Amino acid sequence: MQEFSHKPVLLDEVISSLNLKEGMTVIDGTLGGGGHSAAILEKIGPTGRLIGIDRDNDALAHCKEKFKGNPAFCPVKSNYCNMKEVCRELGIQKVDAILLDLGVSSYQLDNVERGFSYMHDCALDMRMDTTQELCAHDVVNNMSAEELAKIIWEYGEDKFSRRIAEFIVKNRPINTTFELNKAIEAAIPAKFRREGPHPSKRTYQAIRIYVNNELQPLEDAIKDAVSLLNVGGRLGIISFHSLEARAVKTTMKYLELSCICPKQSIICTCDKVQEVKMVTKKPLVASDAELLDNPRARSAELRVCEKVAPVPKKNGANYR
Ligand SMILES: C[S@@+](CC[C@H](N)C(=O)[O-])C[C@H]1O[C@@H](n2cnc3c(N)ncnc32)[C@H](O)[C@@H]1O
Repeated sequence: MQEFSHKPVLLDEVISSLNLKEGMTVIDGTLGGGGHSAAILEKIGPTGRLIGIDRDNDALAHCKEKFKGNPAFCPVKSNYCNMKEVCRELGIQKVDAILLDLGVSSYQLDNVERGFSYMHDCALDMRMDTTQELCAHDVVNNMSAEELAKIIWEYGEDKFSRRIAEFIVKNRPINTTFELNKAIEAAIPAKFRREGPHPSKRTYQAIRIYVNNELQPLEDAIKDAVSLLNVGGRLGIISFHSLEARAVKTTMKYLELSCICPKQSIICTCDKVQEVKMVTKKPLVASDAELLDNPRARSAELRVCEKVAPVPKKNGANYR
């Protein structure tokens, strides 16, 4: 296995905002290289428990070796969307903190065999879980231009989504990342290719999100995570692009509401209760020092909320 390189982003911010104490039970739903997990394990000590979830076999193998002999570490191959099931199987009812550090690790991006990066010439793949069937090669070679354009627009927000999709279809078969880059570059007018980020950036993001179904289940995963927390327990989520950030922000905000009745009603008749309060009023971002050391922290945003005790409602008797 290639060396597992990944620098944890916003490490100090994560550790201090999760309010970790000795003996706590914590879930790291995106184990990766175990950078955050190492610091969590230090805080919770040998009497704590860290359930480290990842869907990537390489990440799990690396962390099993890294934390070998640590009685608090419990690695699980799964999707964090299944964290309720994972806890049920482990006989855990509630936990004290949960971390989700979304997206891919540097290891996945830099490992040529994984086919995630437009910077390396390699076979198209992009699966986080290499036992999954669907991969980037299928998406690029089998989907219609309409379907591709929709994915590139929705998950990549690329204004040239239609042209890119048409050029991809026209240049099939496309087997490698550099062949895909060539089709994308041909689709984007020269003026726009010269400005801004790499022309392939948005399309790769879109295909990766689609292949790994990264966005659709996020809202439910956040709700599940909050349902697993003890009162006072905290959920921290690091996002890396606007689509993730939007999903995290709106779901946490929804969970913070104590009423969802129409604005004009004087009396609350809904059964919505406040489930969390925001700990971070604004997302935490990387310091200049961290950015110098790790440019990949550039777009990282950390949002943290805390589970609150439910306040029961009497329908029809709550003035807003
Ligand atoms: C940004 S990295 C995490 C890095 C980690 N925090 C560290 O400090 O090394 C994201 C990791 O989460 C995993 N991952 C992404 N989505 C996942 C999901 N839905 N379920 C389980 N693992 C996931 C990826 O395979 C990757 O290893």
